[in-house]
This record gives sequence, C-alpha cells and structure tokens, in this order.
Amino acid sequence: MESSPYSTTSEIFAVGGEDYLKEGHTPTTLPERREEILKLRRSLKPAARGAGAENTFLSGKAGQGKTAAAKAELSELESFAASQDLDLTTVFFSCEGISSSYTLACGLCEELGSENPNGHPMQKVLDRLWAAMNDVGGTIIIVLDEIDNLGTDDKILYSLPRARDKEYVGDDVYPSIIGISNDLQWRDNLDPAAKDSLYDDSIFFAPYDANDLRDILSRRASKAFRGTSLRYENDDGDEIEISIDLNGSEGTLDAAFDDAGVDRDAYDLVGVDSEVLSGDVIPLCAAYAAQDKGSARQAIKYLRKAAAIAESEGQSQVEEEHVRAAQGEAERELIVEGMEQLTMQGHLALAAVTVLELAGHSGIRTRDVYDVYKSLADHIDADQLAQRRMRDHLIELDMLSIIRARKSASGSVGGNAYTFELRVEPSTAIEVLEAVSRFDSVDFDELTQNWLREQGSNQQTFE
Ligand SMILES: Nc1ncnc2c1ncn2[C@@H]1O[C@H](COP(=O)(O)OP(=O)(O)OP(=O)(O)O)[C@@H](O)[C@H]1O
Ligand SMILES: [Mg+2]
Repeated sequence: MESSPYSTTSEIFAVGGEDYLKEGHTPTTLPERREEILKLRRSLKPAARGAGAENTFLSGKAGQGKTAAAKAELSELESFAASQDLDLTTVFFSCEGISSSYTLACGLCEELGSENPNGHPMQKVLDRLWAAMNDVGGTIIIVLDEIDNLGTDDKILYSLPRARDKEYVGDDVYPSIIGISNDLQWRDNLDPAAKDSLYDDSIFFAPYDANDLRDILSRRASKAFRGTSLRYENDDGDEIEISIDLNGSEGTLDAAFDDAGVDRDAYDLVGVDSEVLSGDVIPLCAAYAAQDKGSARQAIKYLRKAAAIAESEGQSQVEEEHVRAAQGEAERELIVEGMEQLTMQGHLALAAVTVLELAGHSGIRTRDVYDVYKSLADHIDADQLAQRRMRDHLIELDMLSIIRARKSASGSVGGNAYTFELRVEPSTAIEVLEAVSRFDSVDFDELTQNWLREQGSNQQTFE
C-alpha cells in the first residue's frame, strides 16, 4: 500500500480519547464546583419530594462549568426520580439564537411534547404552553441556558415561574426555572418584577484558578491520552494510582475508584503521570488559561490543540513548545472571530489600516487612516464618519486586540495622537474582509497600488 499521511491509530491519543477533549463531552463530576453544586442541590431538593424546585440563577464568566454543573446535577436528580417513580420532568433548553419570549414559549411547547404553536398570537402560544405543562403534570424543571439571549423581551421570565400562583396551570403542576448566564449585566438590567419572580436563589461561579484548571485538565488527560494515569493521595499520605480503562466497564473515574476498592471522596488529586505528555504541558495550559479568563473551555482547547500539533508533526510526545504554538493559534483564531463580528464601520477602519500596512507604511496615524477610509467608504457607498468617530473605531479595534494603538509623544496639547499597526498578518485581515459582501468590489492590491502612486505624486509636489 502507498504511504498515506493518514493513520488509523495515534501514538498520542488513546482509542476514542480525543472525544474527551471536545466541547460535547459533559463530565459526570466537577469536584472544583462542589460548593456550587451543593447549593444547586439545595434548590432542587424540594423537587425530589414532589414539590417545586426553587427558581435559581447560575451566573459566572464563560467556561466556568455552569452548563456542565447544571447538566450533571440534573441527571443526578433524574436518575433519583426514575428510581423512585417520581412525577418529574426536566427540560434543558439552550436559548442560543432565541431572542424573544415568543420563540422561547414556542420552543418550550415542543420540548414538552406538544405541537409548536408558531404563527399564533402570543396569548394563544402561552395558553398552549400552560396546556402542555398541564398535560405533563407534576414537577417541571426548565433549565434555560444562555438565558441572556432573550435580551429585554423577558415577559415569559415573569409569567413562567408564577404560572402556578396565577393559576395558569393546575394544582398538581410545579414549574420552576433554572436560568444560566455569563452576562451579569443582563440580570441587573432585568425588569424588577421578572427579577423577583425568577430568582429565589442565585449561585455565582467564580473564575477557576490555575490549580483548578490543572486538576480539570489532568482528569481529561487521563482519558484522552495513552499511558496517562492520575495520582491521588489521602490525608494519611497514602498514594494510589488510578488509570481509566476506556474499554472497561464505564470508563469513568468513579468506576476506576470502585475497581480499586477505595472511597474517592477520601482522596485528593495530586498529579498526573504520562508517557505522552511532558511534565510542563498541563501546568502550562492551565497557566495560560488562568492568566486570561480562567476558562476551563480555553484550557481544554489549548491541550487539545497542543496534542494535535504534536501529532501532525509526527511526534510521540506533547511538549511545552506545542502548547506555546497552540496558544498562539488559539489567540489568532479569537482575533479572526473578533474581526468577523465587526460592524461595517469597524470593517472599514480595519480595511484602511490594512491597505496602509500593505503599502509598507509604518507609524500610521489617524489622518493617514482617515484618507484611505474616506475613499473606501466612498467606493462601497457606506456612510462616512467624521475623523474623530472613525478614530473611536480604531480604538475599539485595539481593545479587541486586532490592531495595536500606541499613544505617540507628538500629540497636540490636550489630545492624544496615536499610531496604529495590525496585530495579524495583512493577509489574514484581507481574508476576513473579502468574505464581507459589501467589500466584494474592493481590490485590496489595486487600492494599495493607487495609494502608493498618490503618495509618490504628492511627494513630488512637495519637493
Ligand atoms: N470542574 C470541571 N471539571 C471538568 N470539566 C469542566 C469543569 N468545568 C468546566 N468543564 C468543562 O469546560 C468546558 C466549559 O464548561 P461549561 O460549558 O460548563 O462552561 P459555562 O460556564 O457554561 O460557559 P458559557 O458561559 O460560555 O456557556 C466544558 O467542556 C466543560 O465540560
Ligand atoms: Mg454554558
């Protein structure tokens, strides 16, 4: 057979191990969130006794385990309810892309097993929702993940938790809401009535520190990578080594502890031994993520990317340099994402800086950018902002790490003069800009040439 760049096996990843580093994997336990989960459990407890759960709000920045904790605890409650034959229904609903109470109510009808009433007037939709809840009956826990997508259209957040008190639903129906959001401002801006009815309890997920992230990564690594095991220690200083057999009974840590015949709660994770990860890899991924936002999602991403880079280089070990490369790559991806989401004016300002860089201009000042900006805006028939307003867009590009703005010493009294430079390759910026349909007719090479020509003739005039 001819040699192929592909292979059915990996020297780095365990068979099926890569899945444990992907977004879709939900852990069954989150020891770093023990406190938060205990609080959530307290809110859910009445539900296990056949009443309603407390309405609860989980908040905290992105990647802090809010979704994972809610899913893990809900599934714990579900299995208890099943074992006790409780009349309990849980709905996990992601509000991504749902920006109105109307669409949310329609979606919930469907989730509760009723027809989607889309197209009917709001009141009818709500009536259908109450009817659907009556049909289901018993305790109904609705988790609304990324609830801030609703924006200011929060009518349903007022009426849903009160459905029982207001007698929209029957006496035997106990609805409650678990709201999850990483937008703390959104909650503060809620209508006071909605705020009151929504939150009996509020649980905040503080950012993970480097130690938390190291533990999270270690557990993932023990499943994802070949020859990787965890070291645990109890209060008496006894150490045990735990390796997870993905092909074994359940492939979970709990199962591995059961197999070892020890109580998991008595042991703390103290380290990881790995044939494929060099010693600095996990601490470095954790440190990078902790320095930034403390996001577990980000930390896991660094580890996944670092391993993929090592593998693509044909290495059998993941080293520190692969983590550095992964971090750089992830940062560039983030910048590109930021560029894609800019407004038209943001794109114009970026395009102008890019043209100047392509032309080899250094020490780019606001008025240089403004000249190119004006002709670009003209070219694509967009509104032309005043120079000062355009500069605000440049400053925003700096905050998004897309360009770097430096205050220059030569500023006029009272005002700041800036020079600007791209933080990415001009080709990366052009790739993003060319995908914006308004820029279809823009030829960046031609623009650059024109600008250079103009500069040349200006210089002649002044000489
Ligand atoms: N304590 C933990 N143990 C294991 N994995 C975790 C832990 N916390 C978070 N994760 C993992 O990190 C990733 C991000 O977590 P999650 O999606 O729960 O974050 P979130 O707080 O809901 O973020 P967002 O606000 O962006 O939705 C997921 O892959 C999740 O499984
Ligand atoms: Mg989430």
